[in-house]
Amino acid sequence: MQIRQERLDDAAAIHALTDAAFEGMPFSDQTEAKVVDALRAAGALTLSLVATEAGNIVGHVAFSPVKINGEASDWYALGPVSVWPGRQRLGIGQALIREGLERLQSIRAGGCVLLGDPAYYCRFGFESDPDLYDVGAPPGAFQCLTLNGSRPSGEVTFHPGFDAS
Ligand SMILES: CC(C)(COP(=O)(O)OP(=O)(O)OC[C@H]1O[C@@H](n2cnc3c(N)ncnc32)[C@H](O)[C@@H]1OP(=O)(O)O)[C@@H](O)C(=O)NCCC(=O)NCCS
Repeated sequence: MQIRQERLDDAAAIHALTDAAFEGMPFSDQTEAKVVDALRAAGALTLSLVATEAGNIVGHVAFSPVKINGEASDWYALGPVSVWPGRQRLGIGQALIREGLERLQSIRAGGCVLLGDPAYYCRFGFESDPDLYDVGAPPGAFQCLTLNGSRPSGEVTFHPGFDAS
């Protein structure tokens, strides 16, 4: 398995992968593939990493900038993250996330936030902090990880691409 930044001609494969990964997930509204497309169209895919096996894309993770208290920040949102259904629970998701966080670290990002299951994301150091929040998030789903400097406080706003439907 190899990890690399997406290329121009990966968009359709990433869309199909994302649809397949989230299909039938009870917590999903199945808009995640459109979110990735919208982030890309807005130039907001700070990182868009794909995992490949024998040249085929089997995993993907996106990172995009967030605002804090309505202001641009050096914090980023992780997600959507997708692994092809037949290739899940083999370490691909973790490898993509760890690679993405290392790349954020290398650009001296302040930190990363996400919406997801804490049982999965705690292994990367993500945690809830009542002082850094997303007003619309389901209870417990919003988590953050500080990478550099001190953790800011206030309201986090995801990129408008996340409103794609
Ligand atoms: C969630 C997802 C990205 C994880 O990637 P993956 O390659 O399947 O997972 P990994 O192999 O890296 O990690 C497997 C570990 O995570 C755990 N895990 C996987 N999904 C989990 C979840 N939703 N909640 C809790 N634990 C989870 C497994 O039990 C396993 O634990 P172990 O290492 O202790 O055995 C992938 O399963 C996926 O695409 N799921 C559908 C889409 C989705 O839910 N995306 C995330 C939305 S926040």
